[in-house]
Amino acid sequence: MNQSAMIHRILAEVIENRPLPGDQYLLRLHAPKLAPRIKPGHFAHLDCGPEFTVPRPFSFLDADPQAGHVDMLYKVVGRGTEVMRHWQKGREVALIAPVGNQFDLPEKHQKPLLLAGGIGLAPMLYLGRYLKASGFEPTLMYGTETESPFETGLATLPLSSGTTGHSSDALEATLMDAEKSGITNRLSSLNARPGWFHGFVTQLATQWLQSLPEQERNTLYIYTCGPTPMMAAAAKVAEQFSLKGQASLEEHMACGFGGCAGCVAPIGTADNWKHRRVCVDGPVFPLDQVRW
Ligand SMILES: Cc1cc2nc3c(=O)[nH]c(=O)nc-3n(C[C@H](O)[C@H](O)[C@H](O)COP(=O)(O)OP(=O)(O)OC[C@H]3O[C@@H](n4cnc5c(N)ncnc54)[C@H](O)[C@@H]3O)c2cc1C
Ligand code: FES
Repeated sequence: MNQSAMIHRILAEVIENRPLPGDQYLLRLHAPKLAPRIKPGHFAHLDCGPEFTVPRPFSFLDADPQAGHVDMLYKVVGRGTEVMRHWQKGREVALIAPVGNQFDLPEKHQKPLLLAGGIGLAPMLYLGRYLKASGFEPTLMYGTETESPFETGLATLPLSSGTTGHSSDALEATLMDAEKSGITNRLSSLNARPGWFHGFVTQLATQWLQSLPEQERNTLYIYTCGPTPMMAAAAKVAEQFSLKGQASLEEHMACGFGGCAGCVAPIGTADNWKHRRVCVDGPVFPLDQVRW
């Protein structure tokens, strides 16, 4: 994984804080010096106000160096995000960024498979667009039990060029923006929704992987971000099909700078692992190195 970039504390102006379905918000900040330095995997610590002793970590959903802004997608879950939802256009927000390492690109011959769960969609969408712009053909699978924050519609991009006639072809729901960017994507939920796979996103991935010719399957490289049980299941899928990949971990954070060891995760092999700090050594780690 590429190492952390130099971290800065900056003030950025809120351009937009748009409410989306499922109590989710798209926060766009004017940050022209920061935007060119952001890569998929990076995150920021946002200062939610003087009443909060620690900032809140959020992944980047996008960064546009030309326009000079960065985007985050957040879900309201507690005190800090409850404050954030009231931020108005023009407000100044203090943040520390870019924090953490970034996703590595796959090898040239590999095809990225991105597995996103819940709000883990944010870094996966950013990575998907980045991979597409870098000449890869990513496939995104997104599982959520809340409403999709972004518009869904009917897919026109086929799930796989190598297969026809298997049951995944009946899956028609897609994230429209991602599809318009050329990213094949399919959706899953435990709630029955028309066109969505009914089940976990890792079950959707397993079904699709089983349907692929072995030669095509072996070229896949997995990226995942979402709730820990979902990423643990993604690691099992990778193991089952002998695929490599990377996971972006989410741990509760205090200092955010590597000083408190409050965010550690066990990383390494089964008989030789050590605690690594998700805030500065991660959040991205090799999928087969995380001791779930
Ligand atoms: C690397 C990283 C990237 C993240 N990216 C996103 C994102 O893109 N969008 C998004 O909506 N959320 C993201 N999260 C989770 C987000 O940080 C929490 O939802 C948020 O901190 C909750 O704050 P709160 O005050 O509303 O909740 P509270 O529960 O009141 O928070 C109490 C404390 O717990 C911490 N905390 C609570 N939930 C989490 C969590 N899941 N992970 C880490 N710390 C938590 C808070 O930071 C705070 O210190 C990310 C977390 C990490 C570690
Ligand atoms: S949050 Fe303190 S070491 Fe990571």
